Amino acid sequence: MSNGIKKVFSEVPGTYDLLNHLLTFGLDVRWRAKAAEIAAVGGGTKWIDVCTGTGDMAIALLSRADESTTVYVSDFSEPMLDKAKLKSETGRLQFVTADLRSLPFQDSSFDLVTISFATRNINTSIEHLCECFSEIYRVLKPGGRFVNLETSQPDSGLIRFLFHLYVRIFVKIAGRLISGSKIAYNYLAHTIPRFYTAEKLSDILLKTGFNEVNIYTMFMGISAVHRAVK
Ligand SMILES: C[S@@+](CC[C@H](N)C(=O)[O-])C[C@H]1O[C@@H](n2cnc3c(N)ncnc32)[C@H](O)[C@@H]1O
Repeated sequence: MSNGIKKVFSEVPGTYDLLNHLLTFGLDVRWRAKAAEIAAVGGGTKWIDVCTGTGDMAIALLSRADESTTVYVSDFSEPMLDKAKLKSETGRLQFVTADLRSLPFQDSSFDLVTISFATRNINTSIEHLCECFSEIYRVLKPGGRFVNLETSQPDSGLIRFLFHLYVRIFVKIAGRLISGSKIAYNYLAHTIPRFYTAEKLSDILLKTGFNEVNIYTMFMGISAVHRAVK
């Protein structure tokens, strides 16, 4: 399954950022900024944004990092990382090509791990998701933070219905037309309505061993930040 996802992300880097902004009406920028603001509290000298893709979450983090903080980024897709490297703001980042299931770092290395809009991709099964969360847990220092930004499920049945309709019709069609990739935006439209509620994701994080999970919902619950502590 990982190879399938790698292939999906080799097809989209050229239009990925544009489509994120278009399909969310620019809200993705605000959501990453909010997640970065939450993530930065607590500081530390070593941070990593995993599944960084074109690097926008890492750029949001960089603007909140001290000079003494080294910010790493990792992803298994070279085409997505190549796109990130073209951005002038990413010059200060340390790039690592790696599968999230086995990060090339020692136990207890990081003060902060972030992930944005990739948790649905690593949720090919609950076992795969837990394997990835456990790897994040492993590389965090005791007391370190994991900040997860992802689409979620609005509490209101009506908002949830409209959100899923928008994703299944508009996102799927516009994504396909603009990116030229049928598979990538079919995949997005398929995974968003099936993803966990914020409470269920919190339970999964707690079962992986994290504690103190805090949830910050945004835009009527369409997206959510989870902040979990090792
Ligand atoms: C939807 S993009 C999100 C990119 C970025 N974080 C953002 O906020 O836009 C998902 C990214 O996760 C990466 N990815 C998915 N599964 C992965 C895995 N098992 N290991 C490493 N990277 C993975 C993909 O290559 C892709 O770049």
